[in-house]
Amino acid sequence: MQFGLFEERPQYYTSLDELVSHMMQMTDDPLYPAGTRMVIYRGNPDARLMIIGEAPGTEENRLGKPFVGRSGQLLDQILQAVDLDSEKDVFITNAVFRMPPGTDGRPIRKPTSEEIAWYKPFLLEIIRLIDPAIMILMGNVATESLLERVGITKLRGQWFQWNGRWAMPMFHPAYLLRNPSRKQGSPKWLTWQDIQEVRRKYDELVANK
Ligand code: URA
Ligand code: URA
Repeated sequence: MQFGLFEERPQYYTSLDELVSHMMQMTDDPLYPAGTRMVIYRGNPDARLMIIGEAPGTEENRLGKPFVGRSGQLLDQILQAVDLDSEKDVFITNAVFRMPPGTDGRPIRKPTSEEIAWYKPFLLEIIRLIDPAIMILMGNVATESLLERVGITKLRGQWFQWNGRWAMPMFHPAYLLRNPSRKQGSPKWLTWQDIQEVRRKYDELVANK
């Protein structure tokens, strides 16, 4: 997939506000015809820890902010468990910025690889402007976008160096909601190990600086 986008748009925005206002007016993106809302971020633009999810869901589409439905509540709890405040300590965004509507009565489907690739330059601009030290890649869509790899079960729990930043793939909270066991080795149990490792890295790079 080619990022032909850069031929048509300025590659660099001077501020997050400028990028956001441009994105809010966009009408040529692949999910614009679906009529779903542009959802960009919540949290603190000065945070050094960024969380990258998949795409807005129905609650996010309704409210215009990422991770405000059930997955978002679980995400907030995961962060709170290691004393990270989801409004103050983190910046939360997605790999795809409009909800992909489902078919056959389903409200939502997974974003396609073409959609992930199309929105990626915008995610890259968000990362450049926010300048996080650490990124959590929540689920396969986020890893496909930034690492060009999927297979979250194998990828999770490891640090990747991504253009001078640290990136940790983790299970998506929606996956944890479908797999509620807390037994040793379960997705929830593994997520607890992963978030503690993120906290350790955060203390090393951010909190104790
Ligand atoms: N799931 C995501 O990946 N992102 C959201 O914003 C909401 C749910
Ligand atoms: N599949 C996903 O897309 N994400 C997960 O976190 C787990 C399985």
